[in-house]
Amino acid sequence: MQKRLQIGILGLGVVGCGVVQILSQERQKIKEKTGVELVITKALVRPGEDKSALATAHNFQLVYDINDITADSDIDVVVEVMGKIHPANEFVTEALQKGKHVVTANKDLLAEKGTALVQTAIENHVSLYYEASVAGGIPILRVLANSFVADEITEVLGIINGTTNYMLTQMVEEGMSYEDALVKAQELGFAESDPKNDVDGIDAAYKTVILTRFAYGLDISLDDFVVKGIRGIELSDIELAQSLGYEVKLIGLTKKVGSGVFAEVAPALVPKHHPLASIRNEFNGVFVRSTGIGQSMYYGPGAGSLPTATSVVTDLAVIAENQSDNKPAPQFASYTAKKVFADPNEVFYRYFIALELPCEKVLWQEVQKLAEQFDLSYEVVADQEIAGKRRIVFLTKAINEVQKHQFVTSVNKMDASHVSQIMKVMEE
Ligand SMILES: NC(=O)c1ccc[n+]([C@@H]2O[C@H](COP(=O)([O-])OP(=O)(O)OC[C@H]3O[C@@H](n4cnc5c(N)ncnc54)[C@H](OP(=O)(O)O)[C@@H]3O)[C@@H](O)[C@H]2O)c1
Repeated sequence: MQKRLQIGILGLGVVGCGVVQILSQERQKIKEKTGVELVITKALVRPGEDKSALATAHNFQLVYDINDITADSDIDVVVEVMGKIHPANEFVTEALQKGKHVVTANKDLLAEKGTALVQTAIENHVSLYYEASVAGGIPILRVLANSFVADEITEVLGIINGTTNYMLTQMVEEGMSYEDALVKAQELGFAESDPKNDVDGIDAAYKTVILTRFAYGLDISLDDFVVKGIRGIELSDIELAQSLGYEVKLIGLTKKVGSGVFAEVAPALVPKHHPLASIRNEFNGVFVRSTGIGQSMYYGPGAGSLPTATSVVTDLAVIAENQSDNKPAPQFASYTAKKVFADPNEVFYRYFIALELPCEKVLWQEVQKLAEQFDLSYEVVADQEIAGKRRIVFLTKAINEVQKHQFVTSVNKMDASHVSQIMKVMEE
């Protein structure tokens, strides 16, 4: 049994430095539990990046060429915490091919290249773990993979992007506009200077892809489902939703419908007494519905140096444990299923729909006729005249994806009328 695992770390940024710290703090405990000592021997940094004090304090070598890690036969595990897809994909692939286990926090990489990377890991008899890639410090992937083995997951709803949840909370609690909430999130370091991935829902979509893999064994891609963020969301819609008893949250949802799966990332109305409605600011929450347990929720910090690094180091400790048991390298999500998408005729939700149309009564009558044509029942919850335009908001009864699409497309084809906001209403 190998008593020492040598680690090469790629990137010493927010998470990388956290990994160095957590590993140093928890090394002895992990050794007592697994019988294996985890030791960082090398870290890849950019030329000119001064991390020498950290390297000296923790007794590892700084390197500037990936080959110094992937070609080093003494390194057993590579920790990738550089981010982005390239060159992380090439570096991780190379490490797996060289027979090294890999731990990464990179959701972009796992969502886009996960299928191929898992295959490379299997072929090379090594493990690929990525607990930190979804909801940072919440150990949700391991829970889905292990604790639900005797259960059938029917729905996963996640508030899995801390930046947008922070912005939505600020809009509600401080009455801020979308633009002001974004500036505040950027000032506090929750949002990047280019916030696209967060506010357009792409980051949540990457995580929804990974959650779908763990919940249903299905590999989907971003092209397979609707991804809509919170960009430009109106404070007035959030306030109206509040007055109706809902919080507006950016939800990554993946749900079993019939024999298929329905996934989506979009802002949605969450009833105020639903557990997800209580997730405030930059925190994350993942709500799971299953046939055995029923309802359960996992809550915690979705990001941050130490929470995320703790998840990374836990993956390392699992590799150490496997090593000490002399197990053949297990894969993180070993359950796979055929990719079948839900029939859109069978996916039913209620909706919050805001329409903007000219003030003439006849136009609203035309919309009402369309609603009748597509068998859409509704209740008007707001009807206002703003700057010479009429804005009508209504809540529908449950309609399927096809009815929704036909109604929205038909309204948008009408002269000078359009659907300015549409959000699903989550079940209680
Ligand atoms: N921060 C969080 O709370 C959090 C939470 C969950 C998951 N994650 C994931 O963890 C990963 C790391 O995030 P982070 O926040 O630590 O990012 P970060 O602070 O930007 O750190 C990444 C580090 O890697 C370096 N790097 C990038 N490409 C490199 C290369 N080719 N060679 C050498 N160094 C390279 C970067 O240098 P430059 O700055 O010069 O590019 C930077 O120092 C990402 O995949 C992220 O999505 C982060």
